[in-house]
Amino acid sequence: MKPARRPSNPLFSSGPCAKRPGWSLDALDGALLGRSHRSKPGKAKLKEVIDLTRAVLAIPGDYRIGIVPGSDTGAVEMALWNLLGERGVDMMAWESFGKEWVTDVTKQLRLSDVRTIQAPYGELPDLSQADFRRDVVFTWNGTTSGVRVPNGDWIPADREGLSICDATSAAFAMDIPWSKIDVATWSWQKVLGGEGAHGMLVLSPRAVARLESFQPDRPLPKIFRLTSGGKLIEGIFVGDTINTPSMLCVEDAIDGLRWSLSVGGLTQLIRRSEQNLRIVSEWVAASAWAGFLGDDPATRSCTSICLRFTDPEVTALTPEAQADFAKKLAALLEKEEAAFDAGSYRDAPPGLRLWGGATVENEDMEAVLPWLDWAFATVKAETFGR
Ligand SMILES: Cc1ncc(COP(=O)(O)O)c(C=O)c1O
Repeated sequence: MKPARRPSNPLFSSGPCAKRPGWSLDALDGALLGRSHRSKPGKAKLKEVIDLTRAVLAIPGDYRIGIVPGSDTGAVEMALWNLLGERGVDMMAWESFGKEWVTDVTKQLRLSDVRTIQAPYGELPDLSQADFRRDVVFTWNGTTSGVRVPNGDWIPADREGLSICDATSAAFAMDIPWSKIDVATWSWQKVLGGEGAHGMLVLSPRAVARLESFQPDRPLPKIFRLTSGGKLIEGIFVGDTINTPSMLCVEDAIDGLRWSLSVGGLTQLIRRSEQNLRIVSEWVAASAWAGFLGDDPATRSCTSICLRFTDPEVTALTPEAQADFAKKLAALLEKEEAAFDAGSYRDAPPGLRLWGGATVENEDMEAVLPWLDWAFATVKAETFGR
């Protein structure tokens, strides 16, 4: 039976993610449009993003927070290009984005001392393999496999190298222990449902010390440069952006951060997201056809919730036929306006992926699950001619 009720908000994309509950274009009324971002009020808006970010995430006062170009990719690459090469680096990767950073380091930067520690989709590599005498690059939450690191316990407090973390689908939904992190990056269009455009770059005092003591032997385009004359460009971390930001996106980022505070701050953002995972977990436990892509509950993501097929007839299909099945499933959910963008990532094993970040209401997560069952039964009946 087709379910009677649709999610009030059927947007389950893993980026750009659903806007916060109650969002409308009115939220952008105060945007400083047609004015210079270097004007006094322009800089104040950018500084507000930085200050609210520090307040919501409890980022230590001696860490720098900057707004940089190029979304999360821009922020990660800025870190890799500026910081790596002073010592060897361990690259941890278990899904598509982590693997992209491996490609950057091995094929573009072509660093000589690189160890790659990888795991297939659904698994986490052995974190104890990371050698923190070296720099270590990792993704807190693998958005395309739905596998996250369980905590920061594997990162020593007295590390010699830098811990460099792509935290884009983790920040604001997972607890990040700042003392274990030297570099963190994310973009606005994820957990707080902001707009894609800019990246956030957080640097620990040790990361700043590296920037000021190590000059990489490679050209750095202006868009990546964090130092001038061997000194950190402090302005970047108080709202003097390297180039022109979108003040509309900035206003929206402020709206998302203010909303975070209005619902109770980080604790509540995490609770909302973990509850979405709990709702899906209970449904999976009773499902005859769906399982998590990640087997270990301790490393399952509460934001990018990735599902695979467990139905014996579907798993017996060829990989191509399974991918086709998954596409039909996502298309049917979309046609019914029950769930948009719920297909798994293009390089990931076939299945579904539901975003469970803080802007997704728990009731909507509850409401979408009967639709998954109905759509699965419908596509299965079509596929097997019954
Ligand atoms: C873990 C991770 N890293 C990097 C990116 C790329 O982010 P952006 O499009 O903001 O550059 C994404 C996007 O989904 C991601 O999930």
